[in-house]
Amino acid sequence: MRWPLIVGGVLAAALVTTAPMMLASRSVGQTVAASQADTLRPVASFDAIKDQRARSIALFQEAGKVIESPRCMNCHPATDRPTQGEKMTPHQPWVVRGPDGFGAEAGLRCGTCHHAENFDPARVPGHPEWHLAPIEMAWQGKSLGQICEQLKDPARNGGKDMAKMIDHMANDSLVGWGWKPGAGRKPAPGTQAEFGAIFKAWVETGAVCPG
Ligand code: HEC
Ligand code: HEC
Repeated sequence: MRWPLIVGGVLAAALVTTAPMMLASRSVGQTVAASQADTLRPVASFDAIKDQRARSIALFQEAGKVIESPRCMNCHPATDRPTQGEKMTPHQPWVVRGPDGFGAEAGLRCGTCHHAENFDPARVPGHPEWHLAPIEMAWQGKSLGQICEQLKDPARNGGKDMAKMIDHMANDSLVGWGWKPGAGRKPAPGTQAEFGAIFKAWVETGAVCPG
């Protein structure tokens, strides 16, 4: 594909400095380490756990395979800088969250490089709403139990009740990007529908967090 022709001028300009470095250090479409689980267990398979508390915790741990995947974590960093790739290294070039999550007002805005769709020839992820989660939604550096408590806390989850949280997990399209992340990136385990069903079953069993 003659990709330079179809990149917007702005993106092309912004990539001049980063792309050669990027392309030199890794080949486009490389396979990533298959160390993480690729699949999610069906909700019904948790019926075997008779104790409801234990079942709820096991369901959240299953959901944690997605939540703790780099596809989600990279946008839920502990600082004001995103991370990237399977190893969650600091974003290159240096960009910051800014007041609205879309980057510094007079600096590099996310949409300068991240467009509405993934741009596979240069490995640039895309989505119309591509921006960084607010700092109170930081997940990196926290245990799964701490993330779990945070997800239940309206002060730290964007004021969502549990019905809204289920809907967000199952249907939000920025969350959904995690399963279609473009060339050279490992999708989150399972499917968004399976993940939504596990999260819903966790809520319905009392939303118990791992210790
Ligand atoms: C491109 C960046 C980006 C990616 C990738 C991303 N998020 Fe988020 N996330 C955000 C932003 C921005 C918000 C706040 C706006 C909102 O609530 O929609 C958010 C909010 C959330 C919230 C609600 C608040 C909270 O933390 O309780 C949840 C839940 C969530 N994301 C889950 C996920 C999951 C699961 C994945 C991976 C499958 C994911 N996100 C991937 C940017 C991202
Ligand atoms: C100058 C261009 C540029 C700007 C501006 C930019 N990015 Fe990126 N971003 C990239 C490129 C290129 C990649 C792909 C790097 C790679 O994996 O090879 C990337 C990757 C990412 C990833 C990693 C996705 C993953 O799971 O691997 C996240 C998260 C991200 N950017 C968030 C942001 C956010 C949030 C902003 C705005 C605050 C932003 N970026 C601004 C160029 C940019």
